Amino acid sequence: MSLLELDDLTVRYGGLVALDEARLRVDRGSLVGLIGPNGAGKTTMIDCLTGFTPATSGHVIFDGHEVTSLPAHRRTRLGMIRTFQSLELFDDLSVRDNCRVAASDPRWWEPLADVVRPGRRPVDDALLDDTLATLGLTELAGLRPPELSHGHRKLVGIARVLVRKPDLLLLDEPAAGLDSGESQTLGRLLRGKVDNGASMLLIDHDMNLVLGICDRIYVLDFGRVIAEGTPDEIRNNPAVVAAYLGSDVDSDLEPTPESVSRSLPSIGAHTA
Ligand SMILES: Nc1ncnc2c1ncn2[C@@H]1O[C@H](COP(=O)(O)OP(=O)(O)OP(=O)(O)O)[C@@H](O)[C@H]1O
Ligand SMILES: [Mg+2]
Repeated sequence: MSLLELDDLTVRYGGLVALDEARLRVDRGSLVGLIGPNGAGKTTMIDCLTGFTPATSGHVIFDGHEVTSLPAHRRTRLGMIRTFQSLELFDDLSVRDNCRVAASDPRWWEPLADVVRPGRRPVDDALLDDTLATLGLTELAGLRPPELSHGHRKLVGIARVLVRKPDLLLLDEPAAGLDSGESQTLGRLLRGKVDNGASMLLIDHDMNLVLGICDRIYVLDFGRVIAEGTPDEIRNNPAVVAAYLGSDVDSDLEPTPESVSRSLPSIGAHTA
């Protein structure tokens, strides 16, 4: 059984079918990529499987449990942790404190536990230090987000979710705004976590990143899964090249600007 299973998952926003009977699997200890043009339904899929958007129909099974109707905070408790496409850091906290706040998961009994065992450390400081170091953020740990470059802020967003030790990490465009060096560092970090047992679903338009580190890749177009396979299979899939990668895929592995923005919402080809 896979850690995450989506079956026939459909999400409608009014008359718009954003996700159309999608099926996807993430096995334990694997890194799965999700790619597709703008408006294809990638963020909607993460919104729906984490409980931020209701499913119109279909099923989300996490670790053997049907979670389709659970609220977002219950799914987070089960170990599904996501990042958001837009950065949501606390501007008045340091990098380190941004990560520490995110790592603590207050429960009703925590004040009692603090009385019984003062000085409990819910945050794994060794993991936090290690994560900051791997992402090149150690020197910046005392700064606040407004003092950082966009790339560094993005990396803080990644550090913040990694220190929560998620069972399944869902990353929505973590490399957007990173330069190629930062993107490669991020790729090595994510692959390393997966090689050590983590499980991830990665959305990104950086094809060097996705094709370079994922075990399997799903391709969405107009809300439908149009292909699934290994990076090599996806790279050579004519439907994927036509819908997303473009015919120059072999030259730089980047989707063409036309293909990325082809299915803008205003086109409305997938409205019901
Ligand atoms: N809350 C919402 N209400 C109405 N329509 C929405 C909502 N969220 C997304 N949509 C629409 O659903 C479709 C899928 O959007 P989604 O954000 O999932 O695409 P995406 O693949 O993540 O695109 P991008 O690569 O630009 O991030 C789009 O047509 C979008 O306009
Ligand atoms: Mg998106």
